[in-house]
Amino acid sequence: MSPNAFTALLEAFSEPVLVVREDGTVETANTAALELFGKRIMGAQLRALLRQPEVTAMLERMIAGADTGSAAYSTSDASSERSWKVTARRMDTHAFVVSLRDTSELEAAEAQRRDFVANVSHELRSPLTVLAGFLETLQGAAAEDPDARNEFLAIMQNETERMTGLVADLLSLSRVEASARIRPRDPVAIDMVLHATLAALRPQIEQAGLHVTCDLPENLSSVPGDYDQLVQVYHNLVENALKYGADGGVIEITGVVVPRLPGLDGPALRLGIRDYGEGIDPIHIPRLTERFYRADRARSRESGGTGLGLAIVKHILGRHRGRLIIRSHPGEGSTFETILPLS
Ligand SMILES: Nc1ncnc2c1ncn2[C@@H]1O[C@H](COP(=O)(O)OP(=O)(O)O)[C@@H](O)[C@H]1O
Ligand SMILES: [Mg+2]
Repeated sequence: MSPNAFTALLEAFSEPVLVVREDGTVETANTAALELFGKRIMGAQLRALLRQPEVTAMLERMIAGADTGSAAYSTSDASSERSWKVTARRMDTHAFVVSLRDTSELEAAEAQRRDFVANVSHELRSPLTVLAGFLETLQGAAAEDPDARNEFLAIMQNETERMTGLVADLLSLSRVEASARIRPRDPVAIDMVLHATLAALRPQIEQAGLHVTCDLPENLSSVPGDYDQLVQVYHNLVENALKYGADGGVIEITGVVVPRLPGLDGPALRLGIRDYGEGIDPIHIPRLTERFYRADRARSRESGGTGLGLAIVKHILGRHRGRLIIRSHPGEGSTFETILPLS
């Protein structure tokens, strides 16, 4: 292979690749390697640059004649920490190739998955503990006491409903995630979506003694979307306004068409759900759309919340190329605003 072809080959890899001589000095490096380590790397002892015991040991084995080797390596600068997998492979008796693969994202995804499983287990464990406790009581002490039995059965039903709700939310989250890349394109009439949402929540709205107003632009054109998912979005948002903002007595739903927004090509529908409840402390706002995040855990659980509602909302809006904007001031209520592209 000509030297030019060899250079082209090294450059074909987007990840750092270096050719190391038998004495451990760097003979060639591609652009990605130069960007990571700097130009000083040429001709330098690789061991002296990658000063971490696992990598050093691996390089020494390669210098001593090993055919292959691998080691974990980490780098950090002011803005980020990255993990790498360093692999070495002998070319011939005089040189070996060292390449680095960035494993940071893989590791982050793995950590996220572990967190998620831990969260789900935790959420299921508490209702199960309650159920097991009451089952035992019903078989023993409360077996002959009809009043206690009824009371306990009601609690057990409540806990069962909580688990059912959690499983339903988990399933819809995974369904939305599975279809995240496919942009939905059915023409959806948003007034119909809101109508269906409010009809479904009517009993709760009445029970809370709330007044809900809905103000949409005349002749609103349809939104390209997925009807059922958009119902889910507004169901979640109105239900939250009901659960956490009922003190204010009113929920206002207001839509406006905006011709242009940063990051969007064409016109969009901005639809705000405003409540006058207690509002949300600003420290919570950026995290509300994380799975299982609740500003007030006890309160959310009490009302049968799973902490997944806003995560689902965010995913659905993302699939529609839309956005969620949360504005709130403690004591003054909150506005959850959805932005949906109209074309
Ligand atoms: N309108 C609102 N007013 C005050 N807090 C809210 C409002 N909507 C959501 N929140 C907060 O955001 C959290 C997350 O909401 P969500 O993801 O729907 O979970 P859930 O309602 O199941 O707890 C809630 O637990 C609550 O603390
Ligand atoms: Mg909710």
